[in-house]
Amino acid sequence: MKTWDKKKILEIDRNHIWHPYTQMKDYENRDPMVIVSARGLKLKTIDGQEIYDSISSWWTNVHGHLHPALNQAIIEQLNLLDHINFSGYTHPYAVEVVERLKDFLPPELSRFFFSDNGSTAVEVALKMAFQFWQNKGQKEKTRFVCLENAYHGDTLGAVSVGGVDLFFELYKPLLFKSFKAPSPYCYRCPEKEGFTLDASHQCSLKCLKGMEEILKEHHGEICAVIVEPLMQGAGGILIYPAAYLKKLREITRRYKVFLIFDEVATGFGRTGTMFAFEQAEVVPDIICLAKGLTGGYLPMALTITTEEIYQAFYADYLEGKTFYHGHTYTANPICCAVAAANLKLFAEENPLVKTREAREYFHQLLLKTFADKPYVGDIRYLGYVGAIELVKDKQTKEPFPEELRVSFQIYMKSLEKGVVLRPLGDVIYWFLPLCVTKYEVEEILNLSVEAIEEVLASL
Ligand SMILES: Cc1ncc(COP(=O)(O)O)c(C=O)c1O
Repeated sequence: MKTWDKKKILEIDRNHIWHPYTQMKDYENRDPMVIVSARGLKLKTIDGQEIYDSISSWWTNVHGHLHPALNQAIIEQLNLLDHINFSGYTHPYAVEVVERLKDFLPPELSRFFFSDNGSTAVEVALKMAFQFWQNKGQKEKTRFVCLENAYHGDTLGAVSVGGVDLFFELYKPLLFKSFKAPSPYCYRCPEKEGFTLDASHQCSLKCLKGMEEILKEHHGEICAVIVEPLMQGAGGILIYPAAYLKKLREITRRYKVFLIFDEVATGFGRTGTMFAFEQAEVVPDIICLAKGLTGGYLPMALTITTEEIYQAFYADYLEGKTFYHGHTYTANPICCAVAAANLKLFAEENPLVKTREAREYFHQLLLKTFADKPYVGDIRYLGYVGAIELVKDKQTKEPFPEELRVSFQIYMKSLEKGVVLRPLGDVIYWFLPLCVTKYEVEEILNLSVEAIEEVLASL
């Protein structure tokens, strides 16, 4: 059995490694968890503690860790082809991904562009939408519309269409200017009463008015609207009605503006359907996929678009319509092998049907556990994702004072308890893999309540 030197690992980590989305000083007097193995829903630390991976390792893991079929796909691929550049070459492994994925997509989405991660899939989508209009001679259509509270990644193009001020405000001087439409943040909507719950509620869609006005006034200079369908993830797991997307599709068509759905977080079953947009019964012009594409194993992304967009780039070389975008590891065969195996599991084992009961139980239990808690302002869920918004005062929706760092304390406590409650602001959430069982749902929520209430009692 493999052994490790914990002291040395932590020493080298502390002295040399800069972790993402982490104030390193928070770890001045505490150590990061050292994870050495994982299986199914559980992570194992170097000390042998088991922890529920209740956020699916940053929303990537789909079928549980180390699924035998996914492991096997990688092992087999290692006897065939490790890597080849994808410009002027192709391989059966990328082709299999496309062939399998096509079965889950509407026929309009027929052109697949590979890249490496969610942010890059978004960059590609933005450049495609922009260049489409340039190639068509409509040079003035250069701007994008995004939503407040939107998160599309951390590269500068993706940040330019982002709306989480905490992450992005500082970088403003580096960004291109986008139009920002109001966020469909149902909990803070003056017209909505009670918990947000799922994406089925009907409303007047007042928050879409701002978007409509922007499009009406500026459509001549706008190339595309980008949104995260049904759920603004990093903005706080803000779940909004499918009817919003239906109407948005209508108005983007009316004003001849492309619609980009960023399904990086919502794709691959997480919302209860293979893709979130299915629940709205609309088809976007471009979708962005990453995270769950490889079942949570390896970095790979896809930007998928229509024949109409593709054809605007298809021309004699000297016409200058080529899409000049590509990354060294585009369509890496090992990534493709595991992505194909992931899609095969979806096709053959139908996890969304298999664990339907567990995900419905998850919703019921969230309500049962948190509906009467004085510290829970909102409860929202969609498929395998659930969230509660913590408030100091349920009536006024006043948040806890920032200086208390309540959710960070809950995060730290949750790790001790054996569950990962990595917060988004005042929102505590669960982002479960599709293989979760009712028993695991119950354990995860029980541990979560313990962690939350111990911290709140100590304030
Ligand atoms: C909706 C959405 N888009 C894009 C991204 C960026 O993906 P990546 O971290 O792979 O660059 C994320 C990451 O959380 C996301 O949630």
